[in-house]
Amino acid sequence: MTAFRAMRIHQEGKTTIARVDAIELDDLNPGEVVIRVAWSGINYKDALAVTGKGRIMREFPKVAGIDLSGIVAESSDPTFKPGDRVLVTGCNIGESLDGGFAQMARVPASAVVPVPDGLDLRDVMAIGTAGFTAAMALRRMLENHQTPEMGPIAVTGPTGGVGGIALDLFSAAGFEVHAITGKADTHGEYLKALGAHAVVARQAVELGSKPMEKALWGGAVDNLGGDTLTWLTRTVRPWGNIGSIGLAQSHLLETTVMPFILRGVSLLGIHSVDVPRPWREAIWQQLAGPWKLRHLDRLVTRTVDLDGLPAACEEQVAGTTVGRTLVELSGER
Ligand SMILES: NC(=O)c1ccc[n+]([C@@H]2O[C@H](COP(=O)([O-])OP(=O)(O)OC[C@H]3O[C@@H](n4cnc5c(N)ncnc54)[C@H](OP(=O)(O)O)[C@@H]3O)[C@@H](O)[C@H]2O)c1
Repeated sequence: MTAFRAMRIHQEGKTTIARVDAIELDDLNPGEVVIRVAWSGINYKDALAVTGKGRIMREFPKVAGIDLSGIVAESSDPTFKPGDRVLVTGCNIGESLDGGFAQMARVPASAVVPVPDGLDLRDVMAIGTAGFTAAMALRRMLENHQTPEMGPIAVTGPTGGVGGIALDLFSAAGFEVHAITGKADTHGEYLKALGAHAVVARQAVELGSKPMEKALWGGAVDNLGGDTLTWLTRTVRPWGNIGSIGLAQSHLLETTVMPFILRGVSLLGIHSVDVPRPWREAIWQQLAGPWKLRHLDRLVTRTVDLDGLPAACEEQVAGTTVGRTLVELSGER
């Protein structure tokens, strides 16, 4: 059996250590589909796993990487055959199952999605869980009657992967999008190029303390949680939706029921890991068709290999990175 390279997370005592190991297919968890990995990408969760700054892995050692794209090498499930171009996002890879930061992967057939026509293996990882999640937020908000006429959409953490793609998606869908960022002084032009109508410095936001403040936003896409999400619940207009995606600032949310019962505001949970398969496939079809991103080239700001992962993940956890980082394995398109 041929050895291949994989970034695995090990537990040694109370600490976790990431290193590139030479492993074989039998070192991976069982699964019906073996994939020659072409690309992966770094999501916030991956950065936490690789740096050991968050408890992401549920078993050790495990290959990190919650996303991958590649070419099927073998499959015991008749849905897939060698040569098929496929992707996996979430579905517990890079957490309780071995993930995408490796030259080869073995995954359950239920997690595998064919790469939709109109996107290639690199495109789908430029989008990755980040873009899939932003698209889930758009889908859920539209289903709950969000319209451009209700007012601007606030997007927090917009220089990150999810936020940047949300700017592109929501602005293309006809919404006026306001980017609320910690990097307004350095990345305002970048955010406007992605579709932001206005750029607001997060440091200058007056959070207020009343159960409801002046209503500013038609809706919001939140990647931060904590005080920022609390403030959004107080400042979204009647019937607006908030897609709650992330916790880059805090996992806490301290609000009251007032915005919900007096303004009809909805807090929509956005969860990208265990998504029913029909939704998963439908969202990828949207991303390859009517929701095709206009600024994918601009959103991808760097590409690393397995050896470059630790440094790139340290920077992402520190919140200093911008856009999406691709991880190149075979590099096939
Ligand atoms: N629900 C789900 O299924 C799901 C899926 C994907 C991601 N997520 C979560 O969504 C969030 C964003 O993910 P991502 O992949 O886009 O991450 P990312 O690329 O690392 O971007 C995070 C952005 O948040 C802001 N930020 C970072 N640290 C911060 C801090 N301490 N305080 C305030 N703002 C901070 C920064 O934006 P600015 O400098 O522009 O403010 C940063 O660029 C993460 O919490 C991630 O875990 C959830």
